Amino acid sequence: MERIFFGQIIHSTSFDSLELLTDGFVAVKNGKITAIGAKSEYESLPEKESYEKVELTESQFLLPGFIDCHIHAPQVPNIGLGLDKDLLGWLSTYTFPLEAEYKDVEFAQQVYSTVVRDTIASGTTCACYFATIYNDSNKVLADEIIRQGQRAFVGKVSSNRCCPDYYIETGTDASVQDNIDFIEYLLSKNIDRVKPIITPRFAISCDMELMKKLAELAVRYNLNVQSHISESLGEVESVKEFYPHCKNYSNVYDEAKLMTNRCVLAHGVHLEDEELEIFATRGTSVAHCPTSNTNLGSGMCDVKRLHAAKVKVGLGTDVSGGNRIAIYDVMRAALDVSHHLNVMKKQDVKGTGKVVPTSKYNELYVPLNYKQVIYLATLGGAEALSIADKVGNFMPGKEFDALLIDTSVYPINRYKLPAALMQNKSPKEMLLEQLQKFVYVGNDQNIVNVFVAGQKVK
Ligand code: GUN
Ligand code: FE
Repeated sequence: MERIFFGQIIHSTSFDSLELLTDGFVAVKNGKITAIGAKSEYESLPEKESYEKVELTESQFLLPGFIDCHIHAPQVPNIGLGLDKDLLGWLSTYTFPLEAEYKDVEFAQQVYSTVVRDTIASGTTCACYFATIYNDSNKVLADEIIRQGQRAFVGKVSSNRCCPDYYIETGTDASVQDNIDFIEYLLSKNIDRVKPIITPRFAISCDMELMKKLAELAVRYNLNVQSHISESLGEVESVKEFYPHCKNYSNVYDEAKLMTNRCVLAHGVHLEDEELEIFATRGTSVAHCPTSNTNLGSGMCDVKRLHAAKVKVGLGTDVSGGNRIAIYDVMRAALDVSHHLNVMKKQDVKGTGKVVPTSKYNELYVPLNYKQVIYLATLGGAEALSIADKVGNFMPGKEFDALLIDTSVYPINRYKLPAALMQNKSPKEMLLEQLQKFVYVGNDQNIVNVFVAGQKVK
């Protein structure tokens, strides 16, 4: 399939640089971007006649697809429930009983087909999924993702202790064997877009022996790793009790050799400066999950501090600790949290009380802005999952994972500026205002098409 899009195009090239093409083109061949530029440069494109042409309207623009670095597919039926509890209370009251239901493959089929459809509809072209401990239903999730055309990592959850009897692996060797079974099942499909990922649930529910064996599997099969870290203070305390010889939470995963440059850890709300250095040295990344952190009262993760410490960061919905399935909602929550942190830090400076832990990364604090959350939702996510060579923006050679956004559609079109205020704006200013409207008030209705590797999936 060869297609060329003409019109407004936006993509991030780094945390602080957003490239805007007001009258541009992007050419796609066999799922990959072959060229991008100003429309005037299109004339020199080789074999340009062979492409099908798509003209965007003035109210439309292309954005790279959203990357959800952390979502629990089986928890979707629980969205909105139990969020008056803290992390460990919510896990035992709501999460484990629901995940245990995925012994039932028919139930899994019903939920997973909806989850994949709904995440695609809200613009998630790539998702990093936690599944459950049950492989029959894990395979259903992987098959659904392949069928619907999403890009994904799929993790068979590993948990061999501190879980209820009805939802726990039967032993370390059984866990390793189940991991191998799932990995080989998915690798044998030979679908480059959909890969297994090593998934120890967290340091409380896995012992060191299991985590070390899982790290070996990651090496043997050349796989990414995901887990949770430093989400709530209660969890951090428990981890210290379980691993008294480790200096901090990060040291636990580091001792297991899980902290690689292909490891993404959700939350990282309460990491100490020393731990950030371990992340930066190892190339391990954080999936920032602000909706979940607020819902469960876990804390406010400071993305600007992580960025200053050279830690890679992407965004995660963390459904159903998070109550929203869409990354655009998480972008807004990331802006909220960052502004709240900024206000607290400024109040602190004024001497009204020590409300934020001090850190050498706190100086000259400026909150995240709307351009930076676009980066976190796209290229930042790709870097966090170590797939920035393949996706994340529209650089030639990458695969075309993209969203066609339309601001003339409800809800963005509900309140229009008078024509007099639209005069004297440059095309770039107008495009940036369309982007702001999408970031702050848009929803899935404004995402009219979704492409993964050049294939239209919505
Ligand atoms: N820590 C361990 N398991 C979970 C989970 O399912 N969700 C969240 N948010 N944190 C966890
Ligand atoms: Fe999670």
